[in-house]
Amino acid sequence: MNRPTKQQLDSCRAALVEALGSDALKSDPDALSDYGRDESDLGTTPADLVVLPRTTAEVSRVLKIAREHRVPVTPCGARSGKSGGSMPVHGGIVLTLERMNAIKEISTEDLVAVVEPGVVTGDLMKAVEAKGLFYPPDPNSWGWCTLGGNIAENAGGPRALKYGVTREYVLGMEWVMPDGEVLRVGRRTIKGVAGYDLVGLLVGSEGTLGIATEITLQLLPLPREVQTALLVFSDVRQAARAVSAILAAGVLPRTLELMDDLAVKAVDGKGFNFPPETGACVLAEVDGNVPEAVFGELARLGEIAEQHGAKETWLAQDEGQREKLWAARRTVSIALRGLAKHKLSEDLVVPRSRIPEMIDRCKAIGQALGLTVATYGHAGDGNLHANILFESADERPKVDEALRQMAVVAIELGGTITGEHGIGVAKKDLLPLEQAPAVLALQRKLKQVFDPEGFMNPGKFLPD
Ligand code: LAC
Ligand code: ZN
Repeated sequence: MNRPTKQQLDSCRAALVEALGSDALKSDPDALSDYGRDESDLGTTPADLVVLPRTTAEVSRVLKIAREHRVPVTPCGARSGKSGGSMPVHGGIVLTLERMNAIKEISTEDLVAVVEPGVVTGDLMKAVEAKGLFYPPDPNSWGWCTLGGNIAENAGGPRALKYGVTREYVLGMEWVMPDGEVLRVGRRTIKGVAGYDLVGLLVGSEGTLGIATEITLQLLPLPREVQTALLVFSDVRQAARAVSAILAAGVLPRTLELMDDLAVKAVDGKGFNFPPETGACVLAEVDGNVPEAVFGELARLGEIAEQHGAKETWLAQDEGQREKLWAARRTVSIALRGLAKHKLSEDLVVPRSRIPEMIDRCKAIGQALGLTVATYGHAGDGNLHANILFESADERPKVDEALRQMAVVAIELGGTITGEHGIGVAKKDLLPLEQAPAVLALQRKLKQVFDPEGFMNPGKFLPD
């Protein structure tokens, strides 16, 4: 696809100003470049125009006008994505949902929330918790990412181990098709099997099939008791084996987050001090309603960890300590950037029993190519963030080779190349390693059905 011409853009801009008013548009160079990047470390592809609609009708209008002028549209949330999903790689309009940020309803009786896509995930968590309810999906960027973005990418997070990912909580949506038509898909009830599972298809469609403008989410009762422990190990492989042993023993904590020595080093002392000599650690959290039961489960988990080499167990004594530890974990991805000039992150998943082997293989790939590999992530559900740290852009071919080899290993071990960050532009070239040509062709046909002209978030996820 070619970038839109100046003439196309000028007439499109004029039509948008007329329809939405000039305060719904941004075109200063700083904004164009800010909306041209995300958290993927893939650089910047500036937008030609940023549009900030306030209502579903305006979203629909923008898509219709863009199509008339043959200008591509890339939707975005808070740009916290890790695979370039919101980067306008072919220029055109970035359509941001940030002004549509109302929590429309929280129903204690039905255990649902109805929200607009620009609601910050953490704001919804806090609002429902104030009513004794629980929205479990907790991507580490929850303090600033938005629910619309979480839905586009089918975001995960630490608590996915026990509670599953975003898709498990989306019951229904108001959905604007790439041509501007507004549909309702899904439902408000727990059960419902009428027709194809369109919600299942659209959640995780990476902004390529349209835009959610209202989302009905399932909630749970808030667990009354949460206890958190930090298990300290000397070595990451040992920690990974302990994670496998805990799960094999039938204990299901809500998180089992692994950090190796480099991940610990990146965040140590910035709000939370890790015990000296922490070579690796596991952040384990158990929840429930009966304090004795929760503590019993945590004690059992601690015992198994000790049998597998944990040299120390640190228990969070109160909410303040707990939050400091989690704040450290949440910043690992960003803090790792402080250890080297460049960083590229992986988001591989393997069957959880294979995590120790996956870590070994990632470290070995790094060693063979002379690259530093940091490993951390959601070990309990098999989702590993292997991060390659490097000093010079000249090393990029080697880094790409390492990423490719790691993807091959993940697939060989029965896993997948992305657990929560998506394909976007980051992993387009790797997708054929995992999915057969017929599966890619089927997805191309689906894209055709939704967006025959290909103006909706072009250049993403399906290999060219
Ligand atoms: C995390 C993000 C990078 O787990 O997925 O920190
Ligand atoms: Zn993650």
